[in-house]
Amino acid sequence: MFVTFEGCEGVGKSTQVRLVREYLERTGQAAVYVREPGSTKISEQIRDVIANPENTEMSDITEAMLFAASRAQLVREVIRPALERGELVICDRYIDSSVAYQGYARGMGVEKIKQINAPAIDGLLPDVTIFLDLRPSESWRTLKNSDRMEQESADFHDRVYEGYIAEIATSNGRIVPIKPDFDKKVTCERILEALREKGAIK
Ligand code: TMP
Repeated sequence: MFVTFEGCEGVGKSTQVRLVREYLERTGQAAVYVREPGSTKISEQIRDVIANPENTEMSDITEAMLFAASRAQLVREVIRPALERGELVICDRYIDSSVAYQGYARGMGVEKIKQINAPAIDGLLPDVTIFLDLRPSESWRTLKNSDRMEQESADFHDRVYEGYIAEIATSNGRIVPIKPDFDKKVTCERILEALREKGAIK
C-alpha cells in the first residue's frame, strides 16, 4: 500500500511521520520511508535548487516542473519498485502538495498541475493520504523561514490550506483529514486508527 502525509508547514507533519514509523518498527511492520522533494540522489539535488533562498528569479512553471521532476525520479527509483515487491511505502508529501502549493497558492490552477504531474506519477496515486488538518495561522509552531517556500506570506500558506480542503472533497475518501491535538501522541493515535481502517497497517 502507498500512504502519503500532507499538511501545511508547522503543523507537526514530520513529527507524526516519525511517530508512525516508531510504532510500525515497534510492532514489527516493515515499510519504506521517503519524503518529497527528495529521497533519491537526483531528487535531493532538485530539492536544493527549489529551496535555495537565492533563487528568487524562479518562475512558477519552473518550480512546478522541478517538483514534478523530483517526483518522477522518486516514483521510478524507489516507490514503484517497493510497491511491486509488495512493501508498504510511506511518503511525506506527494502530488497533493503540488496541487495545494502550486495549483492553489501560486494560482497556477489544479488542471495544469495535474497535467504537468501526469507523466511524473504515471498513474500512481496513493491508496490513502493523511492530511493534518490545521490552518497555518492556527498552528502552534513558528516557521524557521530558512527556505524559499517557508518565506512565503501568511496569505500564501492560508491559500495552501484552502487548496487542501478543496481537494479532500473530490478525492473520493482517499484524503483523510485528521485534526492535530496539542498532545502529539493523541494525534498519532488518530492517524494509526485511520490507517488501520484503510487496511494499510495492523
Ligand atoms: P517540507 O517542508 O515538508 O520538507 O516540504 C518542502 C516544501 O516544499 C514545503 O514548503 C512544501 C513545498 N512543496 C511544494 O510546494 N510542492 C510540492 O509538490 C512538494 C512536494 C512540496
